[in-house]
Parts: sequence; C-alpha cells; structure tokens
Amino acid sequence: ATNWKLEAHPNMPKGKILAMIVLDGWGEQIKDEYNAIHVAPTPCMDSFRETAPDRWRLVKAHGPAVGLPTEDDMGNSEVGHNALGAGRIFAQGAKLVDSAIATGKLFKGEGFNHIKEAFPTGTLHLIGLLSDGGVHSRYDQLQGLMKGAVENGCKRLRVHALTDGRDVLDGTSFKFLEMLENDLKELREKGCDAQVASVGGRMYVTMDRYDNDWNVVKRGWDAQVLGEAPHKFTNALEGLKKLKEADPKFNDQYCPAFVIVDEAGKPVGPIVDGDAVVTINFRADRMIMLAKALEWEKFDKFDRVRVPKIRYAGMLQYDGELKLPTKYLVDPPEIDRTSGEFLVKNGVRTFACSETVKFGHVTFFWNGNRSGYFDNKLEEYVEIPSDSGITFNEQPKMKALEIGEKARDAILSKKFDQIRVNLPNGDMVGHTGDLKATIVACEAADKAVKLMVDAIEQVGGIFVITADHGNAEDMAKRNPKTGEPIKDKDGNIQILTSHTCAPVPFIIGGPGLAKEIKLRKDLPTAGLANVAATVMNLHGLVAPSDYEPSMVEWVQ
Ligand code: 3PG
Ligand code: CO
Repeated sequence: ATNWKLEAHPNMPKGKILAMIVLDGWGEQIKDEYNAIHVAPTPCMDSFRETAPDRWRLVKAHGPAVGLPTEDDMGNSEVGHNALGAGRIFAQGAKLVDSAIATGKLFKGEGFNHIKEAFPTGTLHLIGLLSDGGVHSRYDQLQGLMKGAVENGCKRLRVHALTDGRDVLDGTSFKFLEMLENDLKELREKGCDAQVASVGGRMYVTMDRYDNDWNVVKRGWDAQVLGEAPHKFTNALEGLKKLKEADPKFNDQYCPAFVIVDEAGKPVGPIVDGDAVVTINFRADRMIMLAKALEWEKFDKFDRVRVPKIRYAGMLQYDGELKLPTKYLVDPPEIDRTSGEFLVKNGVRTFACSETVKFGHVTFFWNGNRSGYFDNKLEEYVEIPSDSGITFNEQPKMKALEIGEKARDAILSKKFDQIRVNLPNGDMVGHTGDLKATIVACEAADKAVKLMVDAIEQVGGIFVITADHGNAEDMAKRNPKTGEPIKDKDGNIQILTSHTCAPVPFIIGGPGLAKEIKLRKDLPTAGLANVAATVMNLHGLVAPSDYEPSMVEWVQ
C-alpha cells in the first residue's frame, strides 16, 4: 500500500500560499518578429528574469524528458501536464503504442481479440487523426494497425480520417490522405476491401474536448456512423481538393465533414451492427467525447439516431477513473501517486482553474488522466466556460482575465494552500497560426499572471510559473540548420501552427520564498517532471524518493 505521508522539510516552511501558474504554449526561442511572446508587451513575465535572474531558469518540455519517443518529438499539453503533476517521467502513449506494434503485443491483447471477433462478418472502422505530429496519433501507427488487422483476418476496413493542420503544417492533409489511399490500395491487393469512408477537419469534426462543443462530435457521428454529411464524394482526395478550391479560407483543421459514396451515391462505410471500431488516437482528451458516444448506453449529449451494436476499442484507455473505453489495444501509462493526490492527502487545500478548453489540463492531465476530486472537502476545481464556435484568433484574450481574477480571489480568500491555473492563450491562439492575434494573446496571459502575482504579494505567498511546451514563441517554420524562417518566392513565411521543441521558463518568487531557497545549479537538464518535487518543497514537504529531484535547495 502507498504511504501517503510526506515528511516535513527540514528547513523550508509549511503554510505558504502557493500559486502554480502554467502558461500554455509558452517557450523560449529565437527572439525575432515571429516570436509572439518576444514581440508582445509582457512586462510581468519579463520582470522576473530582469530582477531575479537567479530565480529563473529553463526546463525541458519535449522528447524523452516528458516520456516521448525521441528528441524530435515536440511537447504537448497531455505529456507536459502529466509530467508536471506526476513528478516522474512515464513512457507516454506515443511510445507505448510504438512498442506494442513493434513487438506484436498489440495484436495478442484482450482489446484486439475483442474487435477481432467482428472480422469474419463485420467491418473494422478506424477513426482518428491523420498526422505524424505524434501528439494525438501517428500515421505509421495507423499503418501498423491496418497491416496487423489484415494479417489477422480483417476482410473489410474503413478509415474515418480527421485532417490535422494543427500538430503539423496546414495543407499536409493532402499528403497524408494520399499516403493513406496508397496503403489502402495495397491492402485491397491483399484481398481486404479497404477504403476511406469519411473525412473531416479535427477542430470541426469529432475532436472536441472537455465538453466544449458537442456539435463537433455530432458532425463526426453523422458522417462516421450514419454516413450522412453535407458533402459527398466518390474519392477522398478529390473531395478534399474540391472543398479547398471552393473555399479560399479552407484549412485542414476546419475541413467540413464529407462521406465517400459509391457509384450509386450510397455511403461506403457507415457503422452498423456487428462492426468493430477503433479510435486510433492514443491521446485522451479529444477522444473521450466520441468514446462516450460510442460506448455509453445512456447518453443525452445529442441524438445519436441509430446506435449500432459494435465491438469498440480505444487505442488506449482514455480515462482511468471512468474506465473509458472498457476495451483498449494498449495499456495506458500507469500514472499513479501524483503530486496532486499526495498534497491533498497531506492536507494541502487545492484550487484549480482554467477555461473549458484547458480545464482538464490542470485537473485531469495533472492528476494522471483521472477525472474528479481526490477529496472534495479539500479541493475546488473551477471551470470558466470558453467561447465556443469560434477560432481563438477572433478572441485572443480568451478568458485570461477571468481566470486571473478567479485565481486572485482564491489566493486572497486564504482558503487554499495551492492555487493552480492554466492560461491557454499562447497555445490556443498560436495554433490558429495568426501571428497578430497571438501577440495579443501573449499580452493577455501576461496580465493574468500579474493579477495572481500581485495577490501572492499581498498574502505573503510563493509563486511558481512555468509552461507545458512551446508554441507562441515560434510562428514560422524554420530551416533547422540556420533557424531562418522558410520563405516562398513571394517572401511569405510558412506558418507554424504546431508546438515546438523549445524549453520553457521556470520561475519562482514571491515574498513567502525565503532568501535561503535557491535554484540548484546541478540540474541543467531538468524538465517538467522536476517541478512536482520542487512544489512539494515549497509547500514545506519532502517529495517521495522516486520523484525526479527538486530544483530548489536550502542554502544558509
Ligand atoms: C490540440 O489538441 O489542441 C493540439 O493537438 C495540441 O495542443 P495541446 O497539447 O496544447 O492541448
Ligand atoms: Co497546443
């Protein structure tokens, strides 16, 4: 059994109110005109580095430091917040799926056996993000899954593709769809009736999160399950081309839903009784809503019209607390003994807040992909409703001010020992690729930080500021060797909507931070997983011995 008791730190005091601020998508990189954070007025964030450089450092937020396969893997919110909350590095979904496919273990597991039962008479439907971003999914994993399914007797396969343009460059959906068509052709040559059945852009079709907008999931349901969509084409790539030609504002993220139909105009791949379905994304947040629609008998989020009796499995189990979905192909990382749970069990009263689109980041991801409270007497999680149905470059300030004010009030109330927030602006606006709006976004996030830091000042507390990964600090695709933005013949840059591999700032401060508390100099390669032990120390507690080391020490 877990020993939940944390020893008191020999020097660092208990009882200081601590603000834990996560700026989403806020990295440190080349300071030029495409660095929205650099261009934006961010006096508060700048001041820490200028006035207290010894309380400012960088930490790693990408690659193996956050449990991703390689140094080329950019960070993301799931792995970033998992590392922040859990204080240890867990091999994450991307890596676990890689090895389950490589060893063949995936095809021998309970989840695969469950869907395999449908192969003799039913169709296997694969729904997910067509991308090599490695954030939610990866194309080579889809390839491996398709190949393995056919080798294991799948006779009829349908892919419901979601185009990306967010974790990868906009416009790459064509390339991915072409690769998919080629792979499906090969499978047909091997005797499997394999086709694309439907397509839609990830932000408009299926991949909503945290119950922000169920219409998104409904659009996907209509196309994937019912075979109904506003557009119909006989060929997926052609469909994509036609939609792009018809709309100058077309982009991969918001591609409208369309279904593929046969010569007679009949959809080639609605999901029907006796079929099998796999949601191929390994990442949880944007698959949970669809998983509920596919799996839950009782469901009132939209009218499903027809609920097919299917064998369903997720690539991973997406929610450990809800056990959703019940069947999955790869075991998720077992993120246990998180700092959130430790702190609550040691009496640290916790307040967490963000707006809808990032709410689960400081609750669900922070707590190891677990929904709900550990102890509702000691915790309060506040969700500020996000604007829905817009792209955030239209409202780049988002709810930063509201989050800042809620947190400020929570700090001043003195009812909580830890006040934890996520400020989404740099990330959510950064993903739109709109540089101007992202600059406004960064300024708004900085103002929210100021609100909280001022409140910490008033109560004599401590603040900890960091980010989960880079995004807003680089809005241009660059030549990896020179760092120069890549420009086309007209001098236009290629816009970078995705995250980056940049390190992120880590800052401590506030009147409650004893002058003897110093950032250690011997941890130059520390990453997000080192934050949890650091925060435990700042709460006056010693971190569990298997946590990544704390970045602070007491120097007399
Ligand atoms: C998204 O889901 O919006 C992006 O793919 C990743 O962004 P996040 O990791 O910052 O949530
Ligand atoms: Co992001």
